[in-house]
Amino acid sequence: MDELTQTVSGALAAVATAASLAELDEQRVRYLGKKGELTQHLKQLGQLDPDARRARGAEINALKEQLEQGLAARKEQLEAEELTRKLWSERVDVTLPGRRQAMGGLHPVTRTIERMEAFFESVGFEVVEGPEIEDDWHNFEALNIPPEHPARAMHDTFYIDPTTVLRTHTSPVQVRVMQSTEPPIRVICPGRVYRCDSDLTHSPMFHQVEGLVIAEGTGMPDLKGTVVDFLRAFFERDLAVKFRPSYFPFTEPSAEVDMQCVICGGGGCRVCKGTGWLEIMGCGMVHPRVLEMSGIDAERFTGYAFGMGVERLAMLRYGVNDLRLFYENDLRFLRQFN
Ligand code: FA5
Ligand code: MG
Repeated sequence: MDELTQTVSGALAAVATAASLAELDEQRVRYLGKKGELTQHLKQLGQLDPDARRARGAEINALKEQLEQGLAARKEQLEAEELTRKLWSERVDVTLPGRRQAMGGLHPVTRTIERMEAFFESVGFEVVEGPEIEDDWHNFEALNIPPEHPARAMHDTFYIDPTTVLRTHTSPVQVRVMQSTEPPIRVICPGRVYRCDSDLTHSPMFHQVEGLVIAEGTGMPDLKGTVVDFLRAFFERDLAVKFRPSYFPFTEPSAEVDMQCVICGGGGCRVCKGTGWLEIMGCGMVHPRVLEMSGIDAERFTGYAFGMGVERLAMLRYGVNDLRLFYENDLRFLRQFN
């Protein structure tokens, strides 16, 4: 019996220092398994006479229970250690800086249009849109550009069929608004337009913002004031602006507006083709024939209109020297506008 007590105390020592659950289980099998030492002793009880069997049985069972408690205690310890280890290895350091969401940004052309809309809405204009696929009548004829008119050559038109085009400017939206609305009218019409044209300052798809005001007694001074106020608000600084007499079949008188080139400061560069100026819009007083064709009484109402090139304004505002950069989808370029 002493021998067995010694064995068990040795076993308890081994259990108490078992380094892992696997090692602990080895100990359990060694003493309490089917062929374990204590199990063997219990099996041999049958050979003893009843009295001795009872006494010895109680002793062995007491030892067995001691060992089982030792095993359970160590098991609990090891499991707690294991859990602590796991919690440590999976811990989250809440003081680390967070991983930021990759934020997209608005395209510079979209930002420019939104800026333009914000200004014009603040002075009482409404924003309206029209179709990009347009019929010949709205894009040309109703704007006093009949077939065979030389002005058609200036537009480098993409034809879908002989009477359907990709609109070459936003001016057809003027026509649609005049047809459907009673004056007074104050609208701007932003949108895409298309021309068969491509270089540093021209792209085959670009954006214009059309402006149209129809009212009694409005005139060139109102047009000029509106345009100059807009440019000052848009650029937040005083760049030189020039109204240059020009020609459009749908306005009379007509002008084009040039701005001092921001790339070279007016000294002349490849963007402004050495002139120091960049053309940003066409404008003028709506031709009485155009008013009449859209059902507006030209005796009573006058109107002014303008059509601005959005990419040109964006180039000037952000100092971009090639308009095609806006459409190359190069993230290194686009990120600068976030
Ligand atoms: C027109 O399109 C007229 N509809 C503007 C107008 C409206 C005049 C109302 C009178 C009354 P123009 O073709 O000049 O005009 O174009 C207007 C502006 O669009 C130009 O000043 C320029 O800034 C821009 N633009 C023209 N072609 C391109 C192009 N290929 N790429 C980028 N911008 C262009
Ligand atoms: Mg022009």
